[in-house]
Amino acid sequence: MSTPLPSLPPGFRAIVVGASGALGAAFTEALRSDRHCAHVLALSRQSTPGVDFNDMDSVARAAETARQHGPCHLLVVATGMLHGASGLPEKRLTQLDPAHMQASFNVNAIGPAMVLAHFTPLLARQERSLVAVLSAKVGSISDNRLGGWYSYRAAKAALNMLVKTAAIELGRSHPQAVLAALHPGTVASPLSEPFGDARTKRAPTQAVAALLHVLDGLRPEHSGQLWSHDGQPLPW
Ligand SMILES: NC(=O)c1ccc[n+]([C@@H]2O[C@H](COP(=O)([O-])OP(=O)(O)OC[C@H]3O[C@@H](n4cnc5c(N)ncnc54)[C@H](OP(=O)(O)O)[C@@H]3O)[C@@H](O)[C@H]2O)c1
Repeated sequence: MSTPLPSLPPGFRAIVVGASGALGAAFTEALRSDRHCAHVLALSRQSTPGVDFNDMDSVARAAETARQHGPCHLLVVATGMLHGASGLPEKRLTQLDPAHMQASFNVNAIGPAMVLAHFTPLLARQERSLVAVLSAKVGSISDNRLGGWYSYRAAKAALNMLVKTAAIELGRSHPQAVLAALHPGTVASPLSEPFGDARTKRAPTQAVAALLHVLDGLRPEHSGQLWSHDGQPLPW
């Protein structure tokens, strides 16, 4: 079978953070089926070591373990939170709750930023490497026409800025690396389950195939942007 990532060196190594989620599991599965991929480290709250954004030290501990597998060529950050124990996405300002906002920022922005901080030093320096951070089109400030979903939108907008900023720094230390924020489209998953029409949602495997194709085509000059699953750049 041909590899979905022919631009990466044969025998490349991958790390998926958030591997228990619908998209994270589909990324893990696609990479494990790829003969060009020598190793996939699938990390989640359930894995050993675990990555849990309620315990930020777990990110550093997991990165220390990941270092033992050697330089990494693909890092996927597939964590995210739209609803949960802290609440549902807000429709109106009167529904804003600081605890839900904090939980959303923690999982959607701060956690992924800490993954970038601890895992990008593991990227191969002498070869091409790719970092994909799952974001969302609703985090685009200029594309916001409907309002609502305050915490999720704001946390994803913060994530987008963190990706843009980290891409500038990464470009200096790893000139062959590409760091991209990705919008997967509307995908069937626990995150999207309470919202929208199930018939309009794509399967995670289908979304991941599209995202890997987009990633593979990105060059270092494309680093630090938000890309849609159809290969189009999205406005911040
Ligand atoms: N599905 C869509 O339609 C859609 C659309 C646009 C963007 N996205 C983005 O795509 C990404 C993946 O979403 P998905 O649809 O695959 O959602 P999902 O199935 O709900 O997966 C979410 C992942 O985030 C992890 N996570 C949640 N809270 C965490 C925490 N405190 N610490 C560590 N990990 C935590 C979950 O771990 P547990 O399994 O332990 O809970 C799970 O691995 C997210 O960034 C989401 O915003 C999705």
